[in-house]
Amino acid sequence: MEKSRVLVVGGTGYIGRRIVNASLAAGHPTFILQRLEIGLDIDKLQMLLSFKKQGAHLVEGSFSDHKSLVEAVKLVDVVISAISGVHFRSHQILLQLNLVEAMKEAGNVQRFLPSEFGIDPARMAHALEPGRVTFDDKMVVRKAIEEAGILHTYVSANCFAGYFVGGLCEPGRITPARDKVCMFGDGAIKAVFVDEEDIGTYIIKAIDDPRTLNKTLYIRPLENILSQRELVEIWESLLEKVLQKSQLSEQDFLNSMKDVNIVQQIGLGHYYQVFYEGCLTNFEIGGQGVEASQLYPEVNYTRVRDYLKQYL
Ligand SMILES: NC(=O)c1ccc[n+]([C@@H]2O[C@H](COP(=O)([O-])OP(=O)(O)OC[C@H]3O[C@@H](n4cnc5c(N)ncnc54)[C@H](OP(=O)(O)O)[C@@H]3O)[C@@H](O)[C@H]2O)c1
Repeated sequence: MEKSRVLVVGGTGYIGRRIVNASLAAGHPTFILQRLEIGLDIDKLQMLLSFKKQGAHLVEGSFSDHKSLVEAVKLVDVVISAISGVHFRSHQILLQLNLVEAMKEAGNVQRFLPSEFGIDPARMAHALEPGRVTFDDKMVVRKAIEEAGILHTYVSANCFAGYFVGGLCEPGRITPARDKVCMFGDGAIKAVFVDEEDIGTYIIKAIDDPRTLNKTLYIRPLENILSQRELVEIWESLLEKVLQKSQLSEQDFLNSMKDVNIVQQIGLGHYYQVFYEGCLTNFEIGGQGVEASQLYPEVNYTRVRDYLKQYL
């Protein structure tokens, strides 16, 4: 059977480039939006050219040129958006409304995966200000997708390993502490950690799977459902050293958010929902969702212990 044709929007981004790699590796004809606005960003251009060398097709276009988006989406069966959505880097989630308009007009797209890939926004109606903007904006995009009748899959990828495993979940760190670590309370709330390459692999497996149609795909590999304390213990066993631990109570964490700028407040708000509230694991996946490692047991996902070894 012919492989579906995939367009990745945001293909040079942090998660986007992994999605492109996974799509190429799985043999899908892979198209990447080459935005006119990249200007003189030589790193982006060279990444695009290296994808082209591996067989990807570059499609010129712009979010401010509706016709170019319509033409781009007409080339493919599946559109995956990996547009930015982390405030300390860039947050452009609502730009996807232009993409939805283009898909509505083109009428050919068999599956759209909007840029989500984190906490399930549909479960975050109660989230703290100002961090809730991430979830609210992603829900605005969902509403537009559903109103336009576009077939879709939403992906809740939980904690990207690079940010969370790397820093032992400590905000502001992406490398693991070697002496002291601050725990969220007693560090016992369970989160889920996923290697970004594995996220790409699961996403590509899901794009033409009827079981994921109009559903949320949760990526929750069993052995990577861990608390911060368990994560630290794995690191300690690799280091062969016990770290000094302090505990930050929920109230002290909330108080600390008052003294920082809005971008930091947004990020810390997400840490709060994950590590004090437990929003990644405090629910069962119901009928509207499916779990990736159960659907695709053949994927030998990276265990947290193996991921941490690179920091030794
Ligand atoms: N679960 C987690 O732990 C976690 C962590 C980080 C991010 N996320 C989520 O993952 C998704 C992608 O985030 P990311 O960090 O991978 O994004 P990113 O690398 O910051 O940016 C992705 C892409 O967005 C596009 N972009 C940026 N500014 C733009 C603009 N003004 N106009 C049009 N396109 C623009 C660029 O695409 P081009 O390639 O076209 O230049 C860029 O490469 C977001 O939904 C985010 O919330 C989740």
